Amino acid sequence: MKKTIEVPQEELQANLDVAARLHAELQGRGLRYYIESYGCQMNDHDAEKLSGMLQACGYLPASSKEEADLLIFNTCCVREHAEKRVFGNIGALKKRKDAEPGLIIGVCGCMMQQREVAARLYKRFPFVDLVFGTHELHHFPQLLSRALEGERVISVRESDGEIAEGLPVVRNGSFSTFVTIMYGCDNFCTYCIVPYVRGRERSRAPENILAEVRRVAEQGFREVTLLGQNVNSYAYADADVDFPELLRRTNAVDGVERIRFMTSHPKDLSPRLIEAMATLPKVCNHIHLPVQSGSNRILAAMNRRYTREKYLDLVQQIRGAVKDVEITTDIIVGFPGETEEDFLDTLSLVREAGFAAAYTFMYSPRPGTRAAAMENQIAEEVKKQRLLRLNAASTEQLQKGNSKYIGQCGTVLVEGCDQRAGEVTAFGKLPNFKMVYFPGGAELIGTMREVRITGTMNNSLIGDLIK
Ligand code: 5AD
Ligand code: SF4
Repeated sequence: MKKTIEVPQEELQANLDVAARLHAELQGRGLRYYIESYGCQMNDHDAEKLSGMLQACGYLPASSKEEADLLIFNTCCVREHAEKRVFGNIGALKKRKDAEPGLIIGVCGCMMQQREVAARLYKRFPFVDLVFGTHELHHFPQLLSRALEGERVISVRESDGEIAEGLPVVRNGSFSTFVTIMYGCDNFCTYCIVPYVRGRERSRAPENILAEVRRVAEQGFREVTLLGQNVNSYAYADADVDFPELLRRTNAVDGVERIRFMTSHPKDLSPRLIEAMATLPKVCNHIHLPVQSGSNRILAAMNRRYTREKYLDLVQQIRGAVKDVEITTDIIVGFPGETEEDFLDTLSLVREAGFAAAYTFMYSPRPGTRAAAMENQIAEEVKKQRLLRLNAASTEQLQKGNSKYIGQCGTVLVEGCDQRAGEVTAFGKLPNFKMVYFPGGAELIGTMREVRITGTMNNSLIGDLIK
């Protein structure tokens, strides 16, 4: 089992000291920051840490980009187009920077962890002040301090990444939040850039995770999502704690009412996890289990290390053990060499598995990954057509699955409300991730409510408030 290396306390303290110095200098100047974050929950959570550090440095949150004295783009590189968009958005800031030389512009996130992309961006946009990779997040106060002194800073460190504990965090939302349990990934699925930018798999110490869970529970968060690229391979060298055991300990924390987790890799999903889901009352009956393809040939080329049969067997086991469970998935179409027959295998798997939602993507070659160098790349038009057909099949399945809910009752955690067809409508999820819309206003947000399902609407359910 690999050892987790934590960033030395002195190194973190040195950064927090810089933050405190900046706070003393900047306080009262009313400087504001705005973070534009792209990509997954991992990136969103990094943005929450950046917010924590920015506020420790004396900055206040801005309500819009225009109002900000410091703009940060937290980028993602998992799928294509992101790069074009980020470069476009940053390019468009030149005029504003000319007019407002005091504006500080920073770019960070996974895309900047790719050295050549970071260097290209730094060269192309001389008005960008600060570029740093994901492994430099905990050095942010020092990097910012240099930028404030007028230096142009670029800092991208090749590293498997240590874990920085104890960074200040400002969380978005007030009743549901994320706690990272592990970083990085060792799986090297051949299409995926994550292992290259997020480094090798490393798990946080269970006592640090549980302390954070207790802290957020005390702050009033009722729902916690445990985050990692592959939570099923959670393992910490100094303690005999695997992921199901971590769930058991999280379940024992007072104040937490719902526990979610993502993402699970099918190859590592153990009977112990299924048992934990079935027996721990706070662990929600939902699992996000990316299948990626229904063809054994393509699964092998993707280096997923399970077969279609193994996946469908897991689905059966989960459904057999966990009451009212819903399963969601990720699917890629147009992986190199994918034939019509392979694609039909994916369609038939979607019909057999009965997903509650499928997040579907056209394969996009990521530089440096094995699949990007494979022959038989699929034409864009073929990918597009397959995506449309897949989405149609997946919608048909999930609508079929929705009908069983009519007449059922359940508890939702109310997330928000909006105006729909002239009526104020509240919405929230059942434990199994199904979204329910029902008549109700803003006063319900953050509360647990009983609803009865009366109808369905696309991916979601419609209900009435019982209490
Ligand atoms: N092309 C298309 N989709 C991808 N994903 C990851 N890498 C790629 C890629 N190169 C999808 C996978 C993964 C989700 C987060 O993004 O389906 O599960
Ligand atoms: Fe990427 Fe595969 Fe790791 Fe998921 S498990 S992050 S798809 S390499």
